[in-house]
Amino acid sequence: MEKIQSVQGMHDILPDEQDYFTFIKKVVRHRCRQNGIRRITTPVVEDTILFKRAIGEQTDIVEKEMYTFIDQGENQLTLRPEGTAGVVRAYIEHGMSNLPQPVQLYYFEPMFRRERPQKGRYRQLFQFGVEIMGESDPALDAQLIALAYTICQDLGIADMVDVVINSIGCPVCRPKYITHLQNFYAGKERNLCDKCKTRLEKNPLRLLDCKEEDCQILANLAPKITDHLCTECKDFHDHLKDYLQALDIPFRESPKLVRGLDYYTKTVFEFVLKNDPKAQNTVCGGGRYDKLVEFLGGPNTPASGFAFGIDRLVMTMKDAGIIVPSKDTIHVVIIQLGEDAKKKAIRLLQDLRSKGVKAMGSFGKDSIKSQMRLADKLEAPYALILGQMEVKNKTIILRDMKKGTQTIIKYDDVLPEILKTIDNKTLDTHDFSTELTRL
Ligand code: HAM
Repeated sequence: MEKIQSVQGMHDILPDEQDYFTFIKKVVRHRCRQNGIRRITTPVVEDTILFKRAIGEQTDIVEKEMYTFIDQGENQLTLRPEGTAGVVRAYIEHGMSNLPQPVQLYYFEPMFRRERPQKGRYRQLFQFGVEIMGESDPALDAQLIALAYTICQDLGIADMVDVVINSIGCPVCRPKYITHLQNFYAGKERNLCDKCKTRLEKNPLRLLDCKEEDCQILANLAPKITDHLCTECKDFHDHLKDYLQALDIPFRESPKLVRGLDYYTKTVFEFVLKNDPKAQNTVCGGGRYDKLVEFLGGPNTPASGFAFGIDRLVMTMKDAGIIVPSKDTIHVVIIQLGEDAKKKAIRLLQDLRSKGVKAMGSFGKDSIKSQMRLADKLEAPYALILGQMEVKNKTIILRDMKKGTQTIIKYDDVLPEILKTIDNKTLDTHDFSTELTRL
């Protein structure tokens, strides 16, 4: 039979990698709770028009990276390429502007972009993002950047990232700046790459972050948006910088940072890996989007947010040799021989687990040797061996797998003996029934 493989650019997240995802999720949940940010999950699929309108028709994402299809009911749908549009749609749809503002939400979900796959660039990618709607103050942007930075510290990668900020102005000052930019490029078109030639017409701001060398040279000479901000945007940006300093967040300004989505106003920022010449080095991107809620049919509502690429975080942590805790290790493997022993063993497994002992048995293997080999491979520190003789004598053998020593204990004492032997801190106990309440 022909082998069926995963779709190009979409990868499985196997158990060892899950440890990194679990750790990141734990950090995110903890920091979001501290900030009063609550989780939201929006559907993976939305009407295509949502992304076209929110992200912008002339962006790379909308022009060529969306997974769009027509369903059986003739609806044009798209697998979400990012999280902001769906969260804003939900904010409007559920009348969240009537809630106390700001409304603070986070998500941890897969996104889909049909980009050219390479290291750190996938077609199914995971993002953790925060969106805060209903507050227009640079202190909010500073706090969002601080939160993203704290998360980098928690993950052990803060010293590897540069926090880069910029302001891309507002509908008052940006169009004037774009005219300056176009004037600057007039007559220099032949020095631009083909993509930038079209950008000059369609999306001139993106000329500034082209990676081609010749385009970069021109971008460095181009007029800077920070020299053309209106008073309101300039004040806003100056305050943001003051607050970042007050929060001790190291940052660098780059007038060339423009981001690839059209909804931003004023603040934009990215966390970029230092000393990494590869193109896929942005682990976090975000900014303010004061016009988006209104643009999608809601009330005039300022908003700001960011998103991390989780796959890139995992890659960065692994490359840096950072090891996350794993709780998947097994304490005990039960080894049994004969039908009576098997019956006792399945019950014993259940009793061990109810005490928080992580225990496994392999009931399909009939030789003690093959079961022992499994215990070895699982790196279980202990094995409990139950053969016909032990069943008859009401005993069980406790084997220390590392030392290779064995002791015979009374079957009735097996639970207290195991609990005495195992480091209690590693037990996996949870009494869920005590956590629930009823109306
Ligand atoms: P973005 O810059 O398009 O922003 O994506 C955010 C992050 O997702 C990137 O910095 C990167 O780490 C990760 N990422 C993006 N594309 C890929 C890919 N193909 N493979 C792996 N990782 C990827 C947004 O999506 C905005 N919604 C962020 C935002 C939220 N702005 C305001 N609120």
